[in-house]
Amino acid sequence: MTTTESRLTGADVNDVDSIVIERSDPNEILHTIQQESEVLFTWDYKRSRPALVKLYEKAKRSQWNATTDLPWETEVDREKLAVEFRQTVARFDVMQDDPDAPTAKWGDKEWDEFVIETQRWTLSQFLHGEQGALICTGLITATVPWIDAKYYAATQVMDEARHVEVFGRYLEEKMDGAYPVNPQLKLLLDDIIKDSRWDITYLGMQIMVEGLALAAFGFMHMLTEEPLLKKLLRYVMSDEARHVAFGVISLQELYSQLSAAEIKERQEFAYEAAVRLRNRFFAQDVWERMGVDPKAVVRFLQTHPDPMEEMFQTMLFSKIVPNVKKLGLLDAGDGSLRKRFTDLGIIQFENNTDTEQEYDSLDAVAADAARIGPGAAAG
Ligand SMILES: [Fe+2]
Ligand SMILES: [Fe+2]
Repeated sequence: MTTTESRLTGADVNDVDSIVIERSDPNEILHTIQQESEVLFTWDYKRSRPALVKLYEKAKRSQWNATTDLPWETEVDREKLAVEFRQTVARFDVMQDDPDAPTAKWGDKEWDEFVIETQRWTLSQFLHGEQGALICTGLITATVPWIDAKYYAATQVMDEARHVEVFGRYLEEKMDGAYPVNPQLKLLLDDIIKDSRWDITYLGMQIMVEGLALAAFGFMHMLTEEPLLKKLLRYVMSDEARHVAFGVISLQELYSQLSAAEIKERQEFAYEAAVRLRNRFFAQDVWERMGVDPKAVVRFLQTHPDPMEEMFQTMLFSKIVPNVKKLGLLDAGDGSLRKRFTDLGIIQFENNTDTEQEYDSLDAVAADAARIGPGAAAG
C-alpha cells in the first residue's frame, strides 16, 4: 500500500477494545509482510551530504562486539532487579488498596511477581522492536535514493543485529526467555514496514520507535545497578542516538521539499504512531498471565488515573517531540499536530535538545576508548 490506512479517529483514541486487542497465533514462528517498495540503485556515488558522511565515519569507529565487550559472566539477581524496576514501572498505586480494583485480592507476592513479569515483558518488547529496526534498516539500504544514506543504513543494520543479539541473549540466559511481541507493537511495525514510501520507514522507525526506545533505555540505564544490563543499555543507547540522528538528518532534507499535502500525510502518520505508543502500548500479556482481565484494568485506570504511570508514559516522548519539531512537522499546515500532541500531554518536550545535537555526547563506546585506550570496550 502507498498510504497508511487510518485506524484511528479522535473518538476512539481511548476505546478499550482498541487498547486490548486479540493476539494472533501464539505459536507463530514466521510472520509475513507484503512489501512493494521501489528498490533504487544510484549511479551518483559522490559524497554530497557532509552530515551523513560524519555520522557514517562515527558509526564505523564506534562498533562493539556483543560477545566480548559485555560482562556476560555476571550473575543476575532477579529479585534485586525487580526492586530497582519498581521505580521505573509504577506499581499502580491507585490499584493497590482499592477494593474495586481488579487486583483487589493481590498481596505483596502478586505485586512482586507482577513487577518481575513486567520487566521481562519490557525487555521482550525491546527485543522485538530491535528486530523491527533490523528489518527497516535493511529495507532503507535498498529504498533510499542517496549513496551516503545507503552507507549509513548499512552500519545500522549491523548495529541492530547486535541489539537483537544482546536482548535475546539477556532474556534467554538471565531471565525465563521472551514474551511474544505485543499486538500493538506488531501492528505498528507492520504499518511501518508495509508502507512503500521510503521516508515513512524512517519516520516510523528512526523518529518514533527509536526515539521512544532511546528514552526508555535511558530510564532503565539510569535506575539499574545490575552491571551487565547497565553496560548493555549504555552501549545500545550509543548506537540508538546515531540512528535517531540519521532519521533527523535525512528527513530534514526531504521534508523541506515536500508539498503541503505530502507533509500533512506525514503529520497524520506521526500522530497515529504516537497514539499507539502513548495510549495503547499496554502490557496486556502480563495481566493475562497474572490471571487478571486486561480490559478490566484499562477500564479501572481510565476512571482512576495513576499519576506515576502517566508521567512515565509521557516521559517516553522526551526524545520524539523535539525531533518531530526539528523536521517541521509540529507547526506545518494548520498546526494540528501541535494541538494533537498537546492533547496527548507530550508537547512540553518540544524545546528539549534534538538528537542530531546530542548523539556525539551519548557515544559511550568512544568515551570508553578515549578513557582507557583502544580495545577498552572489552573491559
Ligand atoms: Fe537498536
Ligand atoms: Fe536503532
